[in-house]
Amino acid sequence: METKVIKVTEKNMDEAMALAGSLIKDKELVAFPTETVYGLGGDALSEGSSAKIYAAKGRPSDNPLIVHIADFNDLERIVSKLPPEAKLLADAFWPGPLTMRFKKNDVVPDKTTGGLDTVAVRMPNNEIALKFIKAAGGFIAAPSANRSGRPSPTLAEHVKEDMDGIIPLILDGGPVGIGIESTIVDLSEDEISILRPGYITAQMIEEVIGKKVTLDAAVDGVSKDAHPKAPGMKYRHYAPKAELILVEGEEKHVLETIVDKAMNATIAEPIGLMLKEKHAEYVKSKLFKIPKEAIIIKTIGNKDDEAAHELYKVLREFDEENVKVIYSESVGNDGIGQAVHNRMIRAAGHNILNA
Ligand code: TXA
Ligand code: MG
Repeated sequence: METKVIKVTEKNMDEAMALAGSLIKDKELVAFPTETVYGLGGDALSEGSSAKIYAAKGRPSDNPLIVHIADFNDLERIVSKLPPEAKLLADAFWPGPLTMRFKKNDVVPDKTTGGLDTVAVRMPNNEIALKFIKAAGGFIAAPSANRSGRPSPTLAEHVKEDMDGIIPLILDGGPVGIGIESTIVDLSEDEISILRPGYITAQMIEEVIGKKVTLDAAVDGVSKDAHPKAPGMKYRHYAPKAELILVEGEEKHVLETIVDKAMNATIAEPIGLMLKEKHAEYVKSKLFKIPKEAIIIKTIGNKDDEAAHELYKVLREFDEENVKVIYSESVGNDGIGQAVHNRMIRAAGHNILNA
């Protein structure tokens, strides 16, 4: 299959949406931009389309898909119970990087929810995404548009790397805004909990609903026995080809440890370093005795939101390099830092070095 990439502009918007909408109605898949990461869209109400999504990603079919909508009123058509918090959170954060989980009704095929009786729903904050969802009939099932186990795509080029020849159309909307996936909050049970951290934090949600929000025990893999409510959290995700080691502790010690480890690099076996921009020069200067080609440094900005934006791109870039091991600085653990930290821990397969 030939994969067409359309760079969507104001000028070709209507034409692009007509094509994308008709492909979805023909049960084909279309990749599209959102504010978090690129999604791989199919008709959420069609079992066949969901099956195609799992196949295209190479994803286990017990790992449910998020349903994307463009109109709050459409929510009622797919859930069996709409708790009052849904409206409050939608007013505050939709369109935006928040996914809410509800008890589903029979309109949503079991295939879309991986056999669960719940459905996760979000309204993305991206003009192309919203127009595409409308053109396609209102309900788009979309996981991140990467092959299973690869970092989520933050550029249309990343989607092309993973999906070329597999899907008919990629809508290119340029680089995404946030760079890591949406927060998932569970409203299907009495206790409200975060199943996946993201840009919208537990505290932001608590402020809106006036209720305590807990963090699912499985989120950072704190408890190995915990059965994650979001099945996706149990798979080793976002894994780079090289071994990724996350170095944590006091900043000074972290940098010393990274320099120490990088001293072992040779041209035959280069070492990758993932650093904050402000530390790159310092680390380089300490490694002046090591041949340039032996150290591959990539930076993830300085602030946590910059790290969110750069992380997946940098992980993909490392896959192109001949490195077997990458040492990375960690990020703060509050605000969006918590979500970035969660993705880093998982990319590292819990491989953490305390400096
Ligand atoms: O930002 C995002 O949410 C992106 C963009 C494309 O919207 N989508 C995304 O989808 O990250 P995906 O499939 O890569 O991740 C969805 C996660 C998985 O961990 C899955 O297990 C969980 O959401 N999930 C989906 N439906 C669920 C449900 N009913 N119950 C529990 N977890 C669910
Ligand atoms: Mg994903």
